[in-house]
Amino acid sequence: MELELIKAHQDNKNSTLVIFSVCPKGKQEDINGKSETVKILHPLLHKILKDSIADKTITGKAQEVCLFRNFSFEGYKNLLVVGLGSHKDPEAVRQTAAAVYSGLKGANVHDACVWMDQLPAGKKEFRTMLEAFSEGLLLAAYNFDELKSKKNDKTDKKELRVFLQTKLATEAAVKNALREAKILVECVNFSRRLGDLPGNLMTPTIMADTVSEAIKGTGIRAEIWDKARIKKEKMGGLYGVAQGSEQEPRFIILRYNGGGKSKKPIVFVGKGITFDTGGISIKPSAAMEEMKYDMCGGANVIGGLLAIAKLKLKVNTIALVPAAENMPSGVATKPGDVHRARNGKTFEVNNTDAEGRLILSDALCFGSEQAPQMMVDAATLTGAMVVALGNTHTGFFTRNDALAKKIQQAAGNSGEWVWRMPLCDFHTKDMKGTFADLSNISSSKGAGSATAAAFLEQFVEAGIPWAHFDIAGTGWAVGNRLPYCSKKGASGVLVRTFVELAKLYE
Ligand code: BES
Ligand code: MG
Ligand code: ZN
Repeated sequence: MELELIKAHQDNKNSTLVIFSVCPKGKQEDINGKSETVKILHPLLHKILKDSIADKTITGKAQEVCLFRNFSFEGYKNLLVVGLGSHKDPEAVRQTAAAVYSGLKGANVHDACVWMDQLPAGKKEFRTMLEAFSEGLLLAAYNFDELKSKKNDKTDKKELRVFLQTKLATEAAVKNALREAKILVECVNFSRRLGDLPGNLMTPTIMADTVSEAIKGTGIRAEIWDKARIKKEKMGGLYGVAQGSEQEPRFIILRYNGGGKSKKPIVFVGKGITFDTGGISIKPSAAMEEMKYDMCGGANVIGGLLAIAKLKLKVNTIALVPAAENMPSGVATKPGDVHRARNGKTFEVNNTDAEGRLILSDALCFGSEQAPQMMVDAATLTGAMVVALGNTHTGFFTRNDALAKKIQQAAGNSGEWVWRMPLCDFHTKDMKGTFADLSNISSSKGAGSATAAAFLEQFVEAGIPWAHFDIAGTGWAVGNRLPYCSKKGASGVLVRTFVELAKLYE
């Protein structure tokens, strides 16, 4: 899909005009609601379409799309009216853009012009709205069909061109907003693709190679550790998880120095299990194919760093991804086996399916050694997270209130939904080992996500502000919540929040 900004549309003949409608809060469910409460945000079009409002063809409801073919208005061929609902925040606009995309795609049109100036935003918020709208369109256009012989995207044959028309902002400001949206979404879609590729095509080696290729020209430097190096560096967690697989593990270190030399880095760590069978504590077969997504934490911190570098944020940033495949075999880690992490702590592997925390342990040790001003990790860590929050909110754990506030602020800016979860000494106690320092599963029932977080905390040096994001519920298959995500595919969750978080450390 092509996306351009223009001041005035020139050739309207075959184009579809896109315009917004709104419905005030509470009115949309009102079955006796008066039709005048619905507004089409263009006075003239409102007059012309008042019958469609009266017969409820147009209700102004969020993401409603209504196409009028051969409408012939100001030289445009068709008209698409899209509902904004009662919300005015950028995330509502982002989601509305996805509705526009599917509306245009469904109607098989190839050229559209969106009149942006009617968006309910003051001058100051307009740029944010424009950026959100562009992001929504581009995010919705992501389609993972590279493994199909026949592409299912109709618009592939003829590209969809969308023009955003505005007179509200200066051309330079508006162009810049679009440029940033394009960079951000390119990085989100990069992460999504890593997640969507199946386990045989996204091994730890391929992941490291793909990333090494992607960072070219961005100023990011990569260091990739192989199996021998991982062993030499005393990463017993990562090594122990990988030992049952034919696929060699990798430890991916990415560095971007956008800030001053003396500035401490911020560190992002992501779980990179390229496939999780559970190991000897093998998972049931049903839906096991979804465990190709077990590297989404890693993929999304990489996407986040790519965006931070491409947007040239003035912050020193490190992304760390321990990557391995969790397989059962004659040489795999067995329940009860004890391994030693990089900081010397030992752990019993009482369930080989609780592998994410083991590979993260070494990465968090390494991250701590970088003396960061802040460290966060993202992982598809526990099924319990899906039980707790479903696929709407990403749960995060931290004991640091100041960092929690920053995370909430960053997520507020990115439009992603996060929810703070408890992490306290009870959880830490539950992870004590019988024969080693720690056990990788809890001795108590329940709170499986918090006890996992408490395990991770054991590998973060005291004093470093640290937070853990469990994206088990939000890493993929969130299309029922977010129209700009695919139904089954990877979401790229937190890439946007990581960028916003990095901005707070500039
Ligand atoms: N990758 C899984 C967690 C997961 C499960 C993510 C379902 C998304 C959907 C993780 O490695 C795992 O298997 N965790 C276990 C831990 C348990 C054995 C303590 C779990 O949650 O069942
Ligand atoms: Mg597992
Ligand atoms: Zn896993």
